[in-house]
Amino acid sequence: MEAMKVWMMAMATLVAVCATAERETLRFNEGWSFARFGAMPDGTEKAEPQGVEKAAFDDSAWRMLNVPHDWGIEGPFRAELPNQTGKLPWAGIGWYRKTFDVPASDSGKKVFIDFDGAMSDSTVWLNGEYVGEWPYGYSSFRLELTPFLKPGQENTLAVRLDNKPESSRWYPGGGIYRNVRLVKTAKTHVAHWGVFVSTPVVSSDCATVQVRAEIDGAYDKVVHEIVETGKTGQGTTCRLSIDFPRRWDLDSPNLYTLKTTVFSGGEAVDEVETPFGIRTLSYSADGFFLNGKKVRMNGVCQHHDLGPLGAAVNTRALERQIEILQEMGCNAIRTAHNPPSPELLDLCDRMGMLVQVEAFDCWGKGKASNDYSRHFPEWHEKDLRAMIKRDRNHPCVVMWSTGNEIREQGNKAGHAISQRLTDIAHDEDPTRLVTAGCNNIKAGFNGFQKTVDLFGYNYKPHLYGEFRQKNPKQPFYGSETASTVSSRGEYFFPVSDEKHLGQGGHFQVSSFDLTAPPWANNPDVEFAAQDEYPWVFGEFVWTGFDYVGEPTPYNKDKTNLLNFSDPAERKRMEEELEKLGGNIPPRSSYFGIVDLCGFKKDRFYIYQARWRPELPMAHILPHWNWPERIGEGTPVHVYTSGDEAELFLNGKSLGKKVKGEYTYRLRWDDVVYQPGELKVVAYKNGKRWAENMTKTTGEAAKIELSADRKVIAADGQDLSFITVQVSDEDGRLVPRTHNLVTFSIEGPGEIIAVGNGDPTSHESFQALEHKVFNGLALVVVRSMTGDPGTIVVSAKSKELIAGRIELEAK
Ligand code: GAL
Repeated sequence: MEAMKVWMMAMATLVAVCATAERETLRFNEGWSFARFGAMPDGTEKAEPQGVEKAAFDDSAWRMLNVPHDWGIEGPFRAELPNQTGKLPWAGIGWYRKTFDVPASDSGKKVFIDFDGAMSDSTVWLNGEYVGEWPYGYSSFRLELTPFLKPGQENTLAVRLDNKPESSRWYPGGGIYRNVRLVKTAKTHVAHWGVFVSTPVVSSDCATVQVRAEIDGAYDKVVHEIVETGKTGQGTTCRLSIDFPRRWDLDSPNLYTLKTTVFSGGEAVDEVETPFGIRTLSYSADGFFLNGKKVRMNGVCQHHDLGPLGAAVNTRALERQIEILQEMGCNAIRTAHNPPSPELLDLCDRMGMLVQVEAFDCWGKGKASNDYSRHFPEWHEKDLRAMIKRDRNHPCVVMWSTGNEIREQGNKAGHAISQRLTDIAHDEDPTRLVTAGCNNIKAGFNGFQKTVDLFGYNYKPHLYGEFRQKNPKQPFYGSETASTVSSRGEYFFPVSDEKHLGQGGHFQVSSFDLTAPPWANNPDVEFAAQDEYPWVFGEFVWTGFDYVGEPTPYNKDKTNLLNFSDPAERKRMEEELEKLGGNIPPRSSYFGIVDLCGFKKDRFYIYQARWRPELPMAHILPHWNWPERIGEGTPVHVYTSGDEAELFLNGKSLGKKVKGEYTYRLRWDDVVYQPGELKVVAYKNGKRWAENMTKTTGEAAKIELSADRKVIAADGQDLSFITVQVSDEDGRLVPRTHNLVTFSIEGPGEIIAVGNGDPTSHESFQALEHKVFNGLALVVVRSMTGDPGTIVVSAKSKELIAGRIELEAK
């Protein structure tokens, strides 16, 4: 049935997403057959057969599926797999095959295949003939199929991917995890990523739009038109003007479209549309300026995975991430540490987010034995050019990063590489400046800083002053900051200010936001540096969302698990580690301000308080369900955009606290726990500003379901994210609950992922049951193509009243 459904969708595969002049762009996502070899998900090995690339190869027993597809996220989690890459079976060999027809009338055309990303080391054959390859799993690439194509007949495309173990420091995913398109053009056509639009002169009266177009084949003329104004110009380079331009800005992300038409033999043979925005960027020692106005980058670093959905790209999942980040006041994303999906940049253009697009996590010297350093010598230029050519028309992109914490920061040979990468970036795009994320203290002083335009330190707030003294003119920012770690809804006592203690065992991390690994800081420390040095043009917090893999402090180095001052506790942990054979469970990060499912941790509110100072808000932590702590000291912290606040326990004032200079949280360290109601009233400039309340709840009584969107498109791609909450009778979230919940669905939708944000859980992300973690779980529902109707999701758990929600696919 499943195979049948996929197959029927495959019939509809070659649906044009766009057809103009002779160009056709066809979705190529549906109806692939797929099989794995080498390292298998269950830990066994399976020999890779010979001749899989041949058209005649029998793949009838293979699984049928649609891409974007991530084979790793399917699981299962395995205890013996590395924590660092998520304990998921993403390593191994994967083959995808797809047969398709091309009409005889296409002979004489050029036919290409575009991959937005395939993880990794891909090799492509058509009808048994080698077409090409592209090793870097994060790059977009185009291969030409024309010489091997049989118009009027059936064609077979075969793609082999090979994910080597030890090739990543985080969960990379595996498979054709981004979109694929078949592109047909006339012999004469606009080259791949061949249109470059920039806006060199912008004023409120007029903007100059500079166009450069590369054309493949012989042409008579090239005409450009700004669709919104009807203004036209001619040539492979030309300048057009727009009167009274509507600028692209954070709160008014206006876009224009340039239509480029190529004429050959007297006819229009090709046409492409390029969205662009009109805005100015400038950087100085004083900061970053967007359209002439100083803007502090309140940024986050984001890895590419989408939590329980894995690496498989989904536009709505990305959009939801951006919505949550914007609610916090975040205005910038760093695509750590690789080129993003094109969809992310389209969304950032549309939603008004600044983006730093980053190329690499390593250059020639690797960080893992099979990582990109293997390919860097031969491929760095192709990958860097591909990234910049693809992304240089996006107004959201405000800088390029050539690398993160690359190991060559310390020596002259490395500086030469850095200079070369910067030069390549300037060559492809003279309109944007180049940076790199530096962790080597010396990089700000040893000449490395001169090889980039914008200098960023990772985790060095104590060096900002010295950097400025020695580099008075260079624009500067925190390229990676904080790296605070916490588990949503976990609190350990006593509350410790020692940043790398504080973990309470059981592989969770306390959510008082005081814990960070040795190189890192809590948010407050970075805020203080940004306030002390207002010329710092911003920060990129590690990270906005939790991601799969790198579960520091339980990552590769397990010695910190024994950081107990109490010898009895230490002994207990030693015994536990012994029992686990060293295979400790954590599999996803604790760094996120938001957890893996998109649920806010407490930290969200310390950033919101700072980044949206005009929003009246106050947030209390921890929750107030501590029956075992009656009469014990139980500290309370408050994050607020106010400047002082008064705390009340069961109506009795526990005193007012005032934010001093360089303090960003209010603390009542001596609160003695009594159940009941904890309330805070915040003030700003002496006036009542915001309130927040938390209350000891009743017993868990029911499951409540709520959706981020109840109406979704019936297009087989749109998603509804359903929050599953364990509530007491009054509908209050009951903290510390871990009930197992089972789900069912009726109507034209499917449950494609479940999760709960617990970094230690090995429950499948692709099941119809999941435990809640501290009261919450997530169910992700996807619509079906062309199948509208009512979708009903139900959730049941022993001893709780079941929950139910209706969605509408339209
Ligand atoms: C940085 C690194 C990131 C991540 C982070 C965790 O040094 O650039 O990729 O590993 O540490 O704190």
